[in-house]
Amino acid sequence: MSRVFVVTGSNQGIGKSIVKLLLQNNEKNIVYLTSRNKENGEAAVKDLQDLGLQPAFHQLDITDRKSIETLRDYLVEKHGGLDVLVNNAGMAYKSASNAPFSEQAEVTVNCNFFGTLAVCDILFPILKQNGRVVHLSSTLGAFTWPKLSKHRQDQLKDENLQIEDLEKLMKEFVNDAKDDKVLERGWAKSAYGVSKLGVSLMPQIQQKDLDIRNPEKNILVNCCCPGFVNTSMTGGNHATALTPDEGADTPTYLALLPRDVNEPKGCFVKSRKVTPFPPK
Ligand SMILES: NC(=O)c1ccc[n+]([C@@H]2O[C@H](COP(=O)([O-])OP(=O)(O)OC[C@H]3O[C@@H](n4cnc5c(N)ncnc54)[C@H](OP(=O)(O)O)[C@@H]3O)[C@@H](O)[C@H]2O)c1
Repeated sequence: MSRVFVVTGSNQGIGKSIVKLLLQNNEKNIVYLTSRNKENGEAAVKDLQDLGLQPAFHQLDITDRKSIETLRDYLVEKHGGLDVLVNNAGMAYKSASNAPFSEQAEVTVNCNFFGTLAVCDILFPILKQNGRVVHLSSTLGAFTWPKLSKHRQDQLKDENLQIEDLEKLMKEFVNDAKDDKVLERGWAKSAYGVSKLGVSLMPQIQQKDLDIRNPEKNILVNCCCPGFVNTSMTGGNHATALTPDEGADTPTYLALLPRDVNEPKGCFVKSRKVTPFPPK
């Protein structure tokens, strides 16, 4: 049976490889390669067509709610909903960037955390039975955890934490960066690390919520670290880094969790193995 997949930010890097692996797994899968820039997306579609694969395409900018709503309406109209959502789109400033930290914090958290959350807000309601959701997070989120104050850790690991509370904390981080008080107020000075820490906390909260609201749907939400991968984000030529296809392995495995399986759910996964988050 064909299933409908959306991979965000898949015109290059790990996202493009996830589209490739999903199509190679089952050529009946309908896999949407999405890109904020239409020309870049179409060029990536052409590359995959040259390999004999047939991705579908739709424009998607995760920081633009209108763009996400347009995709939602299209998926409902054409397929009656969505089976699998892979939240791959993300960004990071280069370590050599001269952009002020306040700007890095705002732009990075806006894309990686709030963009991913906006996609969830808008696309979760159209997920079908046995839907699967995968967020691309990063081990850097876990590396950031021990640098937080005990107060921040307690706020973030509160078992009653709701998505709105997490949003509020991510906004506080951005505001604290604007006040140049990130360290005094218990954060770590890593825009990418804090944004991915937020993404890593999302699945456990979202899974609880889905299990309460729609237990019959058997939707599984997980996040993962793809490993350290040669892409434009990392500079692309580290001798020991994974290839984008290797980095796509764990996210693709989570996206393809069979319908009769109900774990992992609400977890952080690395190299196909569940890893506790927040780290012990
Ligand atoms: N590479 C690694 O070692 C590594 C490690 C841990 C986690 N990750 C995570 O894995 C994911 C993929 O990273 P990658 O290494 O493949 O990076 P990449 O090659 O830079 O690809 C990132 C993709 O996200 C897209 N994107 C950025 N902002 C977007 C937006 N507002 N709306 C839609 N798409 C947007 C980019 O589009 P454009 O081409 O238009 O910029 C690009 O297609 C990211 O979430 C990243 O944080 C990567």
